[in-house]
Amino acid sequence: MTYPIYLIGYMGAGKTTAGKLLADRLGWHFVDLDDAFHEIHGMSPADYIRTYGLEAFRKKEKYVVEDLAELPIDNVIYATGGGYPCWKDNMDCLKELGTSIYLRWKPEHLAERLSLTDLDERPLLSGKSAEEILDVILPQLQERTPYYEQADHIIDAPVTDDAVLDGTEDEQIADILYDLIASN
Ligand code: S3P
Repeated sequence: MTYPIYLIGYMGAGKTTAGKLLADRLGWHFVDLDDAFHEIHGMSPADYIRTYGLEAFRKKEKYVVEDLAELPIDNVIYATGGGYPCWKDNMDCLKELGTSIYLRWKPEHLAERLSLTDLDERPLLSGKSAEEILDVILPQLQERTPYYEQADHIIDAPVTDDAVLDGTEDEQIADILYDLIASN
């Protein structure tokens, strides 16, 4: 496995939460690329998208990922923005820069998790009810899946189809990621 590690997946997949837990456990650095974007551009991705549009955001987001990759440290877990891998050649870039791991979830479970978060920080979903969130996720996830599935590794969320989420999923994902890294 080559480093750093890039966690990819749809909004609400646990890239940040599980990524932080994993980095703590490994004693590695953790970088949320949405936060890095905010620091570099003085505006959160949500505000940037609202102000300048999605295409302008994607152009800047690309450079944030590539510029940070120049840092001379390998022991980093990066949480990418949910749409990053699906724009232009970004997935190829990730594969050259390190190891990509897709956190794969069923859309219904993503909708459930996202409906419990502050959607103002997610302009693609803000103002939507739980049902409307699912209506956005279904086609978008279908469109994004071919990109996400190019990841070097895919981890399925530890939830069976009809299971009720119990809030321990991010910890379980961190455990699976830890085992994957330890065995590679
Ligand atoms: C986006 C996901 C967000 C953020 C931006 C766009 C997307 O990141 O980059 O709002 O297109 O899926 P998270 O996946 O961390 O929420």
